[in-house]
Amino acid sequence: MVNKITVVGAGNVGATTAQRVAEKELARTVVMVDVVEGIPQGKGLDQWESAPIEGFDSRVIGTNGYDETGGSDIVIITAGIARKPGMSRDDLLNTNAGIVKAVSEQVKRSSPKAIVIVVSNPLDVMCYVAKEVTGFPRQRVLGMAGVLDTARYRSFLAEALDVSVRDIQAMVLGGHGDTMVPLISYTTVSGIPITQLLDRATLDTIVQRARDGGAEIVKHLKTGSAYYAPSSGAVQMAEAIVMDQRRILPCAAWLEGEYGMSGLFLGVPCKLGRNGLEKVIEVELTSAERVALGKSAEAVREPMKAVKL
Ligand code: LAC
Repeated sequence: MVNKITVVGAGNVGATTAQRVAEKELARTVVMVDVVEGIPQGKGLDQWESAPIEGFDSRVIGTNGYDETGGSDIVIITAGIARKPGMSRDDLLNTNAGIVKAVSEQVKRSSPKAIVIVVSNPLDVMCYVAKEVTGFPRQRVLGMAGVLDTARYRSFLAEALDVSVRDIQAMVLGGHGDTMVPLISYTTVSGIPITQLLDRATLDTIVQRARDGGAEIVKHLKTGSAYYAPSSGAVQMAEAIVMDQRRILPCAAWLEGEYGMSGLFLGVPCKLGRNGLEKVIEVELTSAERVALGKSAEAVREPMKAVKL
């Protein structure tokens, strides 16, 4: 375990993330920070009181300020408003850019050595805000989206095949939006190419459902967006870093020439270890996948230009 993990935002995503971090004992202290008075304190205390039952020794605390977060090893940023039905992730741009900017200034000051995992939407642009404002190197600013999009894709595939989710290996790349790129050519079931097990029409339907996965949940919930699977995704990344697992997970990373692109965050296969981003893995893509990834990059660059820092 590391000494301290801070979760910024004590809403549904933040609180569920803090609870999962504590239950896995990834840090000695888990700090939940939020601007709303009482919420992080109340939820943090409630979580800590579950410790004797769940059997974890991570101490959870909630606060409205950044003093308690000082010297965090990892900071997971979930702060921001969530989508309502009919809204795209880009509709959140200006409000959440202001919030993530303010948070990043605090993180830079109080935890200058932290590895930052961004969860706030629109994800790829919020990663850019966090990197620009903190000035942290790309190894220490990552975004959680690909793990979530891939989990949705894997869960739908497992359902269609009536097999264990554990046996589905897959990767969804690109921006966290309608242009995300599920890689059918790299989707296997215990090593068996998915195209041998499902016909193209079924696969296309599943790919589209994965693309619309966030909106499907928003439509059900009406007052907010998903949080169980998003928090699982963020914690899987944190665990890979804390335990130095060298896992290869699809994450939003700052590109410096990989896939022929530079100067933006985009979902790509990343090796995660104790330094954060250990390496961006470049895989061969079909020409259709390459075109789709390029389009996805354009869809990220557009709102990036609009954001005021
Ligand atoms: C989703 C939101 C959190 O995909 O972006 O559910």
